[in-house]
Amino acid sequence: MNILVTGGAGYIGSFASHRLIERGHHVVVYDNLSTGYKEFLHPKCKFVLGDIRDRELPARVMKDNKIDLIMHFAAKTSVPESIDNPLDYFENNSFGTMNLLQNCLKAGVKKMIFSSTAAVYGDTRKDFVSETDELMPINPYGESKVFGERMISHVHAAQGISAIILRYFNVAGASLDNQLGQKNPKANHLFHHLTETALGRQATMAVFGNDYPTVDGTGVRDFIHVEDIAHAHILAAEKLMNETNYLQTFNCGYGQGFSVLQALKTMEDVSGNKIPYEVLKRRPGDPAKVLALADKIKSELQWTPKYNDLKVICKTAFDWKNRPTS
Ligand SMILES: NC(=O)c1ccc[n+]([C@@H]2O[C@H](COP(=O)([O-])OP(=O)(O)OC[C@H]3O[C@@H](n4cnc5c(N)ncnc54)[C@H](O)[C@@H]3O)[C@@H](O)[C@H]2O)c1
Repeated sequence: MNILVTGGAGYIGSFASHRLIERGHHVVVYDNLSTGYKEFLHPKCKFVLGDIRDRELPARVMKDNKIDLIMHFAAKTSVPESIDNPLDYFENNSFGTMNLLQNCLKAGVKKMIFSSTAAVYGDTRKDFVSETDELMPINPYGESKVFGERMISHVHAAQGISAIILRYFNVAGASLDNQLGQKNPKANHLFHHLTETALGRQATMAVFGNDYPTVDGTGVRDFIHVEDIAHAHILAAEKLMNETNYLQTFNCGYGQGFSVLQALKTMEDVSGNKIPYEVLKRRPGDPAKVLALADKIKSELQWTPKYNDLKVICKTAFDWKNRPTS
């Protein structure tokens, strides 16, 4: 298959691109390098420096490369930044997706896999969220992805685009061979702070809130290894190639939660280093607990997680940050 990967120079998109190429697919990465890195590109991929908000370029690239399917990862991804600058998020993530869909229609590309997020559910107050639950995002990042999902569903109904929407929970970890991982120094994810503090590059890390109704008062999340997310994309792409007029949404998580303090302790164990932390008040837009009901992806795409182990997630994330070139 010829696959256009928007955001393919970023964290998750680079894993998907590498694994697709290893499986024999042709990959064109389309990325503006705002938070992506050229060094993550597979030597066999074609790279186009471009923005998903460009009115003309995406369709040209799709036609020139006879693209069969788009994997659309490109987005801004920070919840706190989205609260400070909401319009940047609607412009990049929502308008960007709308523009990409228009370009797909122009180029006749009718298959898309869209990176969505558990943030579309908001503070559900349920132990597990399922794909059919109401979408009640509580921050602009989540809202910007809901717009993306809804546009895809309308374009599916009107123009017959087939799509798979993957709602990832908290993606973490790095490749076991230490070749790929999260590099963006501004990444505001928990694992960035855990690894930086374990390595002594940050004196201490903040834990936002210890008064949530959870096991130890800190937020609980469904951490999923990035390789399992990449594999879900391969299965989704191969499913879409055999389907027409198809639209499905899948949660991508393990259905198992760990608190921030449990993750911190596990990182201390695997790194052998102490992680000093201070408890601050809750951050606006952070729900208490977000866990996936992930039966649907297992039955429909035969997805079987391989790295469902918090120690493996912590160890690969730590080794990646501790590599000599980091
Ligand atoms: N990391 C997570 O835990 C997580 C969880 C849920 C969903 N997601 C989604 O997964 C996708 C990938 O996230 P990531 O963690 O790899 O982030 P990332 O920042 O590492 O990757 C995003 C990539 O998109 C590119 N990009 C951004 N805006 C662009 C634009 N306008 N035009 C072209 N390229 C653009 C960036 O340069 C970067 O390479 C995003 O859509 C994100 O919302 C991530």
